[in-house]
Amino acid sequence: MPNIVLLAPNGQVGFEVARAVAPLGNVSSLSRSDVDFSDIKATITKVEALDPALIINCAAWTAVDKAEAESVSCHLINAALPGALATLAKQKDAWLVHYSSDYVYPGHGTTPWQEDDVTGPLSVYGQSKLDGDIAVIEGTDKYLIFRTSWVYAARGNNFMRTMLKLAQSRDTLSVVADQIGSPTPARLIAQVTTLALQQVFTKERQKENASILSGIYHLTPKGYCSWCDFAAEIFSLASTHGMPLALKPEQLTAITTADYPTPAVRPANSRLNLNKLEHTFQVQLPSWQQQLALTFAELADKNI
Ligand SMILES: NC(=O)c1ccc[n+]([C@@H]2O[C@H](COP(=O)([O-])OP(=O)(O)OC[C@H]3O[C@@H](n4cnc5c(N)ncnc54)[C@H](OP(=O)(O)O)[C@@H]3O)[C@@H](O)[C@H]2O)c1
Repeated sequence: MPNIVLLAPNGQVGFEVARAVAPLGNVSSLSRSDVDFSDIKATITKVEALDPALIINCAAWTAVDKAEAESVSCHLINAALPGALATLAKQKDAWLVHYSSDYVYPGHGTTPWQEDDVTGPLSVYGQSKLDGDIAVIEGTDKYLIFRTSWVYAARGNNFMRTMLKLAQSRDTLSVVADQIGSPTPARLIAQVTTLALQQVFTKERQKENASILSGIYHLTPKGYCSWCDFAAEIFSLASTHGMPLALKPEQLTAITTADYPTPAVRPANSRLNLNKLEHTFQVQLPSWQQQLALTFAELADKNI
């Protein structure tokens, strides 16, 4: 069984990936209680000591607005760390899995972005994620970079949980309706990551050239919506599951990005084309509505 080192098992994606990849090898996790990842040298020493055949980097600076004022710290975690992990992976002939973002694209138009489209981040966070992708690609040959968007989960800080909390106490809510993307559950990211890694390891066992699978892949469910559509679907499912909400569906108001200014600029078009992932790994991605319904079933099960 290969040694797998996973960074940040307590984040939204890290929590799900830690469980999903367990059948693939001996998983060791490193979190903030082991080492502060902004100390890159100390982090690399810890990862190296675990002799990985696979490194999965779920760590990230995800505070998009805060990054505008703290670009150095953001860059350290989102770009310098993946770069150093790539160098280590190359030295050890290990695979590296890294996660990236729709925020690397310039956000205009309505056409879904393809992995090889020209990038053009609009924010410090977006630039740091792009720099991280470039550092991985330049640092090693055996990598999978999954660019995802609008991540949520039954646990952690995310839009779904924020909406549910707000709708319990407020009877009106205004949500942005001119940014379009795909809400992506952390669990789907973990499941698809595992599926892709199974194919990588199968190729390696068969002494085939697995590095042809290296690359950037978009990973979201199918279909697109606005944040306001996403909120409406959340409230509809909440009502189906009998969750008590103060907010009535007609009291949800669609607003524009201009009505809700934030320190970091968000892309209006976060649509990601999924063909490359579906074709390379022979997966069929489910719709975002089906994935949200599954997450609600999980919430209801656990009474979260
Ligand atoms: N969230 C989104 O909407 C979104 C959208 C597109 C792409 N992505 C990408 O998806 C990936 C996973 O995101 P996520 O939503 O799972 O993020 P998350 O929940 O914010 O998790 C990030 C993890 O990184 C850890 N971390 C950050 N700085 C650290 C440090 N200095 N030392 C040790 N640990 C540190 C955090 O630990 P603590 O909990 O201790 O702080 C946390 O466990 C990231 O690459 C992100 O850029 C996310």
